Amino acid sequence: MDNKANSESTITSNTDSIHNKNSRKRLFGKVCLITGAARGIGLATAKAFINEGATVVLSDLDDACGQNEAKTLGEKASYFHLDVSKPDQWQYVMEQIQLEHSKIDVLVNNAGITGQQPGFGPQDPENMTLESWDRVHHINSDGVFLGCKYAIKYMKKNSHSSIINVSSRSGIVGIPGSAAYASSKASVRNHTKSVALYCAEKGYDIRCNSVHPAAIMTPLWEPFLGSGENRVQNLKTMVAGIPLKRMGRPEEVAATILFLATDECLFMTGSELIIDGGILAGSASAPQNNIEKEETSDDSK
Ligand SMILES: NC(=O)c1ccc[n+]([C@@H]2O[C@H](COP(=O)([O-])OP(=O)(O)OC[C@H]3O[C@@H](n4cnc5c(N)ncnc54)[C@H](O)[C@@H]3O)[C@@H](O)[C@H]2O)c1
Repeated sequence: MDNKANSESTITSNTDSIHNKNSRKRLFGKVCLITGAARGIGLATAKAFINEGATVVLSDLDDACGQNEAKTLGEKASYFHLDVSKPDQWQYVMEQIQLEHSKIDVLVNNAGITGQQPGFGPQDPENMTLESWDRVHHINSDGVFLGCKYAIKYMKKNSHSSIINVSSRSGIVGIPGSAAYASSKASVRNHTKSVALYCAEKGYDIRCNSVHPAAIMTPLWEPFLGSGENRVQNLKTMVAGIPLKRMGRPEEVAATILFLATDECLFMTGSELIIDGGILAGSASAPQNNIEKEETSDDSK
């Protein structure tokens, strides 16, 4: 073989090996839309999806941050403004994805608010205003309803599509001081199952599952943690109630969302996965046990 032929075959085999490596990635060829992706769990999910070969459309209200993150993620990422509570914005973004990529395979309905932001007032069942209750539900619950509605419209002719709804531990138990949040997340949990069964009945190849994080360290916790001395104490109190004795990381939720987005779980629909360091595994008034703590071994002796 002459030198030219030799180097051409090397280039071809390099290209082949890059192609093979990429096609082994878990989301290779998938087009994915993530809401609330400018930061926190949404952004961590975008990064995990990109690492697994997906084309990712990030969306959020915070355009400066979202655009910047998409740029950092490289050519397989792009950004759109999308307020999840606005049907016309869903329609526009879905049309644009269809035009640009000809399909959408995965939707992560991640955007959500707690109602603890300034201006929302009390969030307990006795003192909350109807307006504040509606505002929280409008984003968390209506936003997921709209996401599923438009996703079904654009996914139903495709194969192996997946919708992942980000609910919460609060969608499973009551939270007296964040009642609207808890109610809206319970709605997300239940609607996930209706969507899953509807798609199955219609013969659409769309799975729909929910994830239920708790105590994940993101900016969402800022109003609860406060600042200064209080922050340290609040964090200590918080962590004391978590069996794994630490806050979770957004990447740990992203890894679960990634699994549900892949074709590794084609028999999973209408399911719910909890990522909470063990919080929901026990109950507060359980009988005291006498489990002794393991002595930590000291290798230096
Ligand atoms: N962090 C946790 O411990 C935790 C626990 C349970 C559930 N969750 C859920 O996970 C999801 C992500 O939470 P996070 O901790 O990353 O929060 P975060 O506040 O860090 O990020 C939320 C993102 O959603 C965006 N957003 C808010 N309203 C929006 C709207 N109307 N349309 C589009 N985007 C909007 C925000 O701009 C922000 O970028 C939320 O649904 C939240 O309820 C989080």
